[in-house]
Amino acid sequence: MIFYFTATGNSKYAAEKLAEATGDRTVDIGAAWKSGAFVHDMTGDERLGFVVPVFAGTLPGIVGLFLEKLELKGYARQYTYGVFTCGASSEFESAALGAALAAKSIGYNGSYDLVMPDNFIVWSDIPPKARLNAILAGADRALERIITSVKAKADGKIDSSAPRMPFFPNQDVSTSGGTSKLYADGKCTACGLCRAICPMGTIKPGADGKPVWEGSCTMCLACLHRCPARAIEHGGDTLNKTRYVNPNVAL
Ligand SMILES: Cc1cc2nc3c(=O)[nH]c(=O)nc-3n(C[C@H](O)[C@H](O)[C@H](O)COP(=O)(O)O)c2cc1C
Ligand code: SF4
Ligand code: SF4
Repeated sequence: MIFYFTATGNSKYAAEKLAEATGDRTVDIGAAWKSGAFVHDMTGDERLGFVVPVFAGTLPGIVGLFLEKLELKGYARQYTYGVFTCGASSEFESAALGAALAAKSIGYNGSYDLVMPDNFIVWSDIPPKARLNAILAGADRALERIITSVKAKADGKIDSSAPRMPFFPNQDVSTSGGTSKLYADGKCTACGLCRAICPMGTIKPGADGKPVWEGSCTMCLACLHRCPARAIEHGGDTLNKTRYVNPNVAL
């Protein structure tokens, strides 16, 4: 069984490649969180995988909270691994996953880092197409090596240092700064897609059908990258910046 979380497709792409190669099933953490599906039966499964993005060097908040609620039926110390898709480098996410699993008495055989395009355009920029394609091709080569390792049930990286944060905290959009900076500009057509895809249910319809952000946001940036009208911005940080979705997976 492969649990994955994705906003812009990188982790879904990796999870589906792993599923294709191993025959393992995939479970979308975003959809499971939204529908309250926390009990999963892995009787007969040979492996347990978590394929998720790195947020500030640790697990995304939604993944940390999902792990706290997760109940695995049929868990019998199956081989357990993490794959962390990241824009540049890893930090404490392997330790964070190990600690979250240990808290549930689930074993851990280690993790793998997978560098893919960086979707955190609050700080960075999406590179030109040729560079983007080179990053995606490099990720495919790295993923082949990860698949070989996972099929062989080999140990991955285990970081024994204490994670800096157990997970990236979800943010209350009513407070200043952080995700309270998300807004839709005049290009919004009130299509409702951002509301439908937000894994946290943070986006509500306003009086004109246009989005209003309320409550807790995990900062995944799915709404911002996937708005078809390119209407969503994060303060002034994302103005005129290219949006990104992994071109090789259906979202
Ligand atoms: C809030 C946030 C924080 C991020 N922090 C990091 C980071 O610390 N290091 C890194 O290499 N990439 C970081 N990234 C980039 C993502 O981990 C990377 O693009 C990932 O592959 C996106 O996965 P997805 O397409 O499945 O959503 C961050 C992205 C977001 C949205
Ligand atoms: S996805 Fe974009 S266009 Fe559609 S409602 Fe949301 S902000 Fe408006
Ligand atoms: S509001 Fe946007 S950034 Fe926040 S959780 Fe929802 S989709 Fe992700």
